Amino acid sequence: MNKPILIQNIIKRFNKKINMSADKSLSIRFAILASLATGKSKAYNLLKSEDVMNTLKCLKKLGVKIKLNEKYCSIDGRGLNSYVFKDNLTIDAGNSGTAARLICSTLIKSPKKIKIIGDKSLSNRDMKRVIDPLKKFGANFYPKNKITLPFYVSGTKNIRPINYKELRGSAQCKSAVMLAALSARGTTKLKCKPSRNHTELLFKYLKIPIKITKKKGFDYIEVKGGENFNSFNYTLPGDISSSAFFIVLTLLSKKSILLIRNINVNPTRTGVIDILNLMGAKIKLKNKKTYKGEKIANIFVEGSQNLKAINCPTNLNSGAIDEFLIIFLVAAKANGISYFKKIGELNQKESRRLEWGSKILNMMGVKTKLTNESIKIYGQPNLVLNKKYHIKNYLKDHRIFMMCTIAALTLGGKWKINDPDSIKTSFPSFLNVIKNIGGELN
Ligand code: S3P
Repeated sequence: MNKPILIQNIIKRFNKKINMSADKSLSIRFAILASLATGKSKAYNLLKSEDVMNTLKCLKKLGVKIKLNEKYCSIDGRGLNSYVFKDNLTIDAGNSGTAARLICSTLIKSPKKIKIIGDKSLSNRDMKRVIDPLKKFGANFYPKNKITLPFYVSGTKNIRPINYKELRGSAQCKSAVMLAALSARGTTKLKCKPSRNHTELLFKYLKIPIKITKKKGFDYIEVKGGENFNSFNYTLPGDISSSAFFIVLTLLSKKSILLIRNINVNPTRTGVIDILNLMGAKIKLKNKKTYKGEKIANIFVEGSQNLKAINCPTNLNSGAIDEFLIIFLVAAKANGISYFKKIGELNQKESRRLEWGSKILNMMGVKTKLTNESIKIYGQPNLVLNKKYHIKNYLKDHRIFMMCTIAALTLGGKWKINDPDSIKTSFPSFLNVIKNIGGELN
């Protein structure tokens, strides 16, 4: 049942230690790379959210043997281009842009036609950003000129390496090209605006031939394709994007303290911490360690009264791309006018997040100035809400749902927030963690 949740009270002061659900980006990458490896790979603590389950379902349909139980997920890889499926097979990526774009790129050497579909939100999202490079490799897409799902992809045996510039700072596009490069004999060369680098770190760990250099604010990546790699085991750390909601819940709750254990704090993902610390938060990373190239730490955060506005440096955008909604909430409580620019990509997400973020702040009585690319938020340090607020169904965006829940628990008002089921996409236990900290939900 997907009954709206009602929140009528702000959360009481808390002092807790919590675990977070596993990293979504890494869970999806584990599954896809394991399906291309040679041998049985195992993941412990894989995220069991709809995006990851849809990734596994797609791979199963492509003939990959997968076992999933309480303890682990094992995947029997048979090497590059080893998927076995019938012509005209349909695979459904659900709500997951990462699954659709990354799996698509693993299919470019198979001459059989395969139909890729997704839910309503995913079917509105731009796929040209991966179609273009994949066509350069030699893959075909039908109907011609269609740039959204559903569409058909069919590969060819004559895949050739490419040179490609990825200038959006999109990790999905970069990863799609890197995965496609595995099918092409020879060296694919990428010039990329920096973005989360999990795929690069996994390639290195798996000893896939990869060379990375950094020059004048760009990453230059070379991947040599055509060589199989061995299966691997992976234990998933917690997700910083899911943690971000609890970081802000704590920050905006007077005298509260929270420790979030074992989170992936890869510097390409910690934009939210950098931005909030620039706004006056004192978020600390404790017990830092490295696991297979990834940085892991406990995140320590305390409630803060003196938050100040930010003119957000654009080099932090890509590392906070999924966290802007919750950062906007902090800006609404900060002293001064915050300015976030060059974030038009937010309107390409599960919903038009830049626009919706602004509308929700306006509904709360917070003034904003919005363009297609930027937002100014006029902060009110004494902001307290006391009206009724209803977030309706049509949004269907997990991060909007979670942002509104945190607003209700920290700023007050009587909230009715539709579509709690949306959290299944990335963070199925979100409401349980809220309750465990003391949030009252009806
Ligand atoms: C992701 C990359 C980001 C992010 C998405 C997950 C990934 O998208 O918004 O939730 O796992 O690579 P873009 O790379 O398209 O910005």
